[in-house]
Amino acid sequence: MSAPDAPIVRMRGLRTWFPIRSGFLGSLVGAASGWIRAVDGVDLDVEPGETFGVVGESGSGKTTLGRSILRLVEPTDGVLEIDGRDITHVGEGELRPLRRQMQLVFQDPNAALNPAMTIADAVAHPLKIHGMSTSRADGRRQAAEMLERVGISPASAFLDRYPEDLSGGQKQRVVIARALITRPQLVVADEPVAMLDMSVRAKILELMLDLQRELGLTYVFITHDLATARFLCDRIAIMYMGKVVEIGPSAEIFAEPRHPYTRALLQAIPRPDPSRRGREKNLPKGEVPDAGAPPRGCRFHPRCPSHFAPCGWEGRDLVEYLEERWTDPARFEAESAIVGPIDAVVTSPTEAVFPRGGAALAEWLEALRSEPADPLFEAVEGIDVRGPRVVVRFGDGPEPALQDVGGCRVACHLYGLAETGAS
Ligand SMILES: Nc1ncnc2c1ncn2[C@@H]1O[C@H](COP(=O)(O)OP(=O)(O)OP(=O)(O)O)[C@@H](O)[C@H]1O
Ligand code: SF4
Ligand SMILES: [Mg+2]
Repeated sequence: MSAPDAPIVRMRGLRTWFPIRSGFLGSLVGAASGWIRAVDGVDLDVEPGETFGVVGESGSGKTTLGRSILRLVEPTDGVLEIDGRDITHVGEGELRPLRRQMQLVFQDPNAALNPAMTIADAVAHPLKIHGMSTSRADGRRQAAEMLERVGISPASAFLDRYPEDLSGGQKQRVVIARALITRPQLVVADEPVAMLDMSVRAKILELMLDLQRELGLTYVFITHDLATARFLCDRIAIMYMGKVVEIGPSAEIFAEPRHPYTRALLQAIPRPDPSRRGREKNLPKGEVPDAGAPPRGCRFHPRCPSHFAPCGWEGRDLVEYLEERWTDPARFEAESAIVGPIDAVVTSPTEAVFPRGGAALAEWLEALRSEPADPLFEAVEGIDVRGPRVVVRFGDGPEPALQDVGGCRVACHLYGLAETGAS
């Protein structure tokens, strides 16, 4: 690799979107009917020698971010540099020498190892691909050395065995040996202990730390588990729906989480105190929204316990609010007579259009707005009666941008209205 002062990974505005192909036409001509914005405008630097954590719930884009770094998927937009070199769109031929320097450790060691390959052949395989062994015997010797290093010892007793002969922890050690045999600088570890028994998880994490010290590795460590990230990572990026919402030194984030989503994740860490065992995980209300149609403004706003007027309220939030309100049967009976069928309400990012109800509905909505019954009503700019229709209009809903807060960067309007302008 080249430039000595450059970060190992530098991303600016990185987007990796996947096309949604649906319907007859989509399947026929391959046209995209929409996009899953798996990674949607990420800026980050990973410095040599650090362990950089990527944390977030399932579907937040962690794996896609890791795969983008390794160029196992091609980014849709933005810039990706490895060691100062722009590799955003370079072809496989140019990537090949870099591939030796960047390796991936998968979550599932069973899927990562070919059951028909001996341990020696599996570990030596990358040497063959990159022309780094002079003979089969040389590959076998190097594999044995690396297996000893990851605690598969004596290596000679394992070289001719198959993955099925090994325990889960041993298999993951073999996967790590295979990743390290080309002496990479950067290892992207995607939930490397999530599928292992509790009893071996700490041992594998300790092994990874030892190897980092010995070999001067840089890790991008992907996990949904903040407790693991805290144990392992120097810095952390918290992801939500393809965005980094908070980034900073782990010590800082754990001492004082600023983003409401980070706070919610931290509260959800199970506590070792046995009297609290079985406590409900206190993640924010609601499901993670559809990645194909992310919420307007701050993507976290429908679930955020601190949401307020500028957070990006939109038509569908009003429909959801009414649905939740009407779980009370008495309210449902009285209010649905004024509002009419909820399914007939047409929503857009800036409006909710009620097909009928006229002045009586507008008056009822104005009353909710003046209470105000929910923070979303503070974002309502106007309620217009157009014949039988009632149109509820929402004001600006800017998307929060990362800004410096203490020693971290946080994307949340609670810390001032810094906008990306891309809402
Ligand atoms: N190859 C693909 N094609 C289409 N959509 C994809 C593809 N890979 C990921 N996605 C979608 O992109 C979003 C992010 O997925 P990703 O696997 O990166 O999340 P994750 O944070 O790693 O989740 P998990 O914790 O479950 O592993 C999800 O909505 C997922 O369904
Ligand atoms: S901007 Fe901040 S307060 Fe508003 S919804 Fe997002 S996280 Fe919550
Ligand atoms: Mg994943």
